[in-house]
Amino acid sequence: MQENKSYVIWNNKGGVGKSTITFHIASVYAEKNPDRDVIVIDMCPQANSSSMLMGGGKDSEAKLQELISKDEPQSVVGYITEATLNGDAPLKKYITPLQAINANLVSNLYLISGDGNLELIAPLLSERAEATPLSATDNPWIKIHTIIKKLTVKRLSDDRPCTYFIDTNPSFAIYTQLAIVGGEKLLVPINADDSSIFAITGLFNLIWGTSVMHPVYGKYTFASKAEAHGLELPKISFLLGNRFTQKKGAAHAFKALSNEAIAKMYSEFTNNPDKFELSSSPISDISDFEKTYSIELRDFNSAGVVAANQGLPLSKMDKHSYVVYGETIQVAKEQRELCKDTIESLVEKL
Ligand SMILES: Nc1ncnc2c1ncn2[C@@H]1O[C@H](COP(=O)(O)OP(=O)(O)OP(=O)(O)O)[C@@H](O)[C@H]1O
Ligand SMILES: [Mg+2]
Repeated sequence: MQENKSYVIWNNKGGVGKSTITFHIASVYAEKNPDRDVIVIDMCPQANSSSMLMGGGKDSEAKLQELISKDEPQSVVGYITEATLNGDAPLKKYITPLQAINANLVSNLYLISGDGNLELIAPLLSERAEATPLSATDNPWIKIHTIIKKLTVKRLSDDRPCTYFIDTNPSFAIYTQLAIVGGEKLLVPINADDSSIFAITGLFNLIWGTSVMHPVYGKYTFASKAEAHGLELPKISFLLGNRFTQKKGAAHAFKALSNEAIAKMYSEFTNNPDKFELSSSPISDISDFEKTYSIELRDFNSAGVVAANQGLPLSKMDKHSYVVYGETIQVAKEQRELCKDTIESLVEKL
């Protein structure tokens, strides 16, 4: 019997494409894997990937509002609240089958919707996680931090394995910590810019506490608590160089920055190889590293605008022009094909 899989898409830098990538890979992955149920867990209060999956535009906003305003919200907030109160929660109560809402998607794709109220429950979750244990076996910090991890071993039916894709917020809020702990594998989107390169060090520090610990604050960090509790953390699967390939004039400067980003990640790899998924071939230099762990995602240009606005997977984009907020947008066949190939080749590696 095949196992469940879970991928968390995170970088502590905002706007690098986490939600866009989540939408594209989940929609295409579900098409290519009809024998699996594919569930997107949107752990970001902005709920951007939820909107795209629910068809984009105003209708998806209304649908999202309907889900999150139920007494027991049909969202990540509903699930986390029930799991906190009862120790567990039924998956089926909180998922939304997507095809009924967005006919462009396949029937094995589901969503646990994002919810702005994640921000509101965050202090309450932190308070519970930091509560004094009631007995020698009670562990409130682990109970709260493993809510999503325990979810991702669940299935909708016994004979069908699930693959989970977890979208995140860039902040390292407690709900982001739950999201990161929830994934077995970490996909790290980065852009070719300086702040993305700096963010790589931050990412290692926040998850694993890889640099020198502060004498006072060090013991309060997620990393030191995770280590003290022996909590298993995800391994980095791929670095996704999002929009590394741009057609316009800046291509040369982009290459320099994307090389620098890969060099930075390689230096983290040489110091912390155990934070990465084990490679089947030996990694002896930066070029081996790049081939194994780095994938370039091209700029989706107008195809990306249409996809996000209409919740249309690249695989289904077969028209030459689309109307977005009253404007006709052309998407050349060549461009559609290139974007589709990029996502399909990434999905094949998952
Ligand atoms: N490959 C791409 N090609 C073109 N546009 C892209 C691409 N990836 C992302 N974008 C655009 O960049 C912007 C930011 O993307 P997105 O919202 O996915 O980032 P994010 O990391 O989820 O942001 P946040 O940190 O706010 O959650 C969006 O307008 C999106 O359409
Ligand atoms: Mg996002």
